[in-house]
Amino acid sequence: MAPVTSLTAAVHQRLASALSAGLPEGAGADPLLRRSDRADFQANGILALAKKAKANPRELAAQIVSQVVTGDVIGDVEVSGPGFLNITVTDRAITENLAARAADPEGRLGVPYAEQPGTTVIDYAQPNVAKEMHVGHLRSAVIGASVAQLLEFTGERVVRRHHIGDWGTQFGMLIQFLDEHPHELDHKSSEVSGEEAMSNLDRLYKTARRLFDADEEFKTRARRRVVDLQAGDPRTLAIWQKFVDESKIYFFSVFEKLDMEIQDADIVGESGYNDMLAETCRLLEESGVAVRSEGALCVFFDDIKGTDGNPVPLIVQKSDGGYGYAATDLSAIRDRVFNLKADTLLYVVDARQALHFRMVFETARRAGWLGDDATAHHLAFGTVLGKDGKPFKTREGETVKLVDLLDEAVERASAVVREKARDLSEEEIAERGAQVGIGAVKYADLSTSANRDYKFDLDQMVSLNGDTSVYLQYAYARIQSILRKAGEVRPAARPELGLAAAERALGLHADAFAETVAEAAAEYAPHKLAAYLYQLASLYTTFYDQCPVLKAETPEQVENRLFLCDVTARTLHQGMALLGIRTPERL
Ligand code: ARG
Repeated sequence: MAPVTSLTAAVHQRLASALSAGLPEGAGADPLLRRSDRADFQANGILALAKKAKANPRELAAQIVSQVVTGDVIGDVEVSGPGFLNITVTDRAITENLAARAADPEGRLGVPYAEQPGTTVIDYAQPNVAKEMHVGHLRSAVIGASVAQLLEFTGERVVRRHHIGDWGTQFGMLIQFLDEHPHELDHKSSEVSGEEAMSNLDRLYKTARRLFDADEEFKTRARRRVVDLQAGDPRTLAIWQKFVDESKIYFFSVFEKLDMEIQDADIVGESGYNDMLAETCRLLEESGVAVRSEGALCVFFDDIKGTDGNPVPLIVQKSDGGYGYAATDLSAIRDRVFNLKADTLLYVVDARQALHFRMVFETARRAGWLGDDATAHHLAFGTVLGKDGKPFKTREGETVKLVDLLDEAVERASAVVREKARDLSEEEIAERGAQVGIGAVKYADLSTSANRDYKFDLDQMVSLNGDTSVYLQYAYARIQSILRKAGEVRPAARPELGLAAAERALGLHADAFAETVAEAAAEYAPHKLAAYLYQLASLYTTFYDQCPVLKAETPEQVENRLFLCDVTARTLHQGMALLGIRTPERL
């Protein structure tokens, strides 16, 4: 099926034709169309045209009005103010457009695919081995998953990469300790829960650390282990692998709690680029992009200087020969561009790593790995703050465990569900509680633009009023309940019927779904989709208050209103799915 042309696009097209028919300067001119409260749309483009043609804007506007084709999509067009056009679309066009969306055999509501889809590699959900996950990892996972889904929905080929922190000097101590206490992680993967896995790792880390700090000889042995690890010593690698495997048990348990599908094959951590590091350095050094400075291989930038005024380099290889975070990221760029054939690289990472990515991207650009054919973006997210507006910490000043937060969200949500529940079993309450609680956490994250800090406030997140996922989920469930109550009466579009104001507002907004998705995907901005969905639910609430559905005046009107309900529900469902949030049928 051809994608459905939105009403906005149809009106735009008719106005553009009228402009080019109306005056010579009008060809290709932008009518500057936007949604408006006065009419359905307002076009402001005539003002600039009149200036150019030295004409009276109101007279020019009147002349353009006579050129506008009306009757099918546009019902009425009038001159207003200094020379604006107020445009009203016909009720029939609204209903017919929605009917075309509802009839989309692919079930994607007439949302078009991108004309020239590319390949995007998205780097997100990247926790660190042997470490607890925190709210920063939550943001990366939630935003990344939504952007990946949005892009895929528009037809983009998306490759997911979870760049976990699974390499580095910190492993020397852990490996040495485990080698000396082999019984510590001596169990099958299937035997431990995520929680147990994390507590095992945590215990190991703490005891190893204590030994490391107290025992000079252990410290020496641990340092030697780092060398063994980097040299690829098989025994050392085998022990290292145990830490990775144990951590993955934990990661997957958190991702499952987050209702998020992560594939093992997409987990390519820092260690995954080991084989490329030497080559990356050689290429940078030979091309002169990187230079030796006090033994280290460095890249310098004119505009990046420390507080002392001296240039701060990106260190690709340390003077002791070791490779760090930058070398890995540069190698990953080569892999993603040349092996995975990406034309876009996305990094969903904390804003505090902005300087690192700026230097890494600029280095890759100088090396010719990034350029016109492949571009990289750091999709930076802000800090999660506590209710007090300070970075989120426990009362004792420790980092809050992500799992504890999620459990608390689910608990609060279950209380809300239980209070409202009429005919739900305990099992259903638990299931809905998880869907509402996790949805609340995701929505709070996704409804503010990623680069802003946001307050983690569970009371607000599970509130039934306001811009929350629960509000959207209730709107959806309410519609499902009406559709169930309608029984034999099925939703059916009745384009011949006139529409009430609340029906028009709802219908026009539902029709704008495709444009919203395209914009949110193009700008990597799930918050635009969230804002759209909240508005949709709000317009639905007004419609529901003002327009009786099952008790409408005629059987046709009942069908048409059920149809509006159904399209709204499907749009909510699809939109929430793109945010990674469930819409339960009953709440
Ligand atoms: N593991 C890192 C952290 O916890 C994030 C990794 C980001 N991705 C990357 N390619 N550097 O902060």
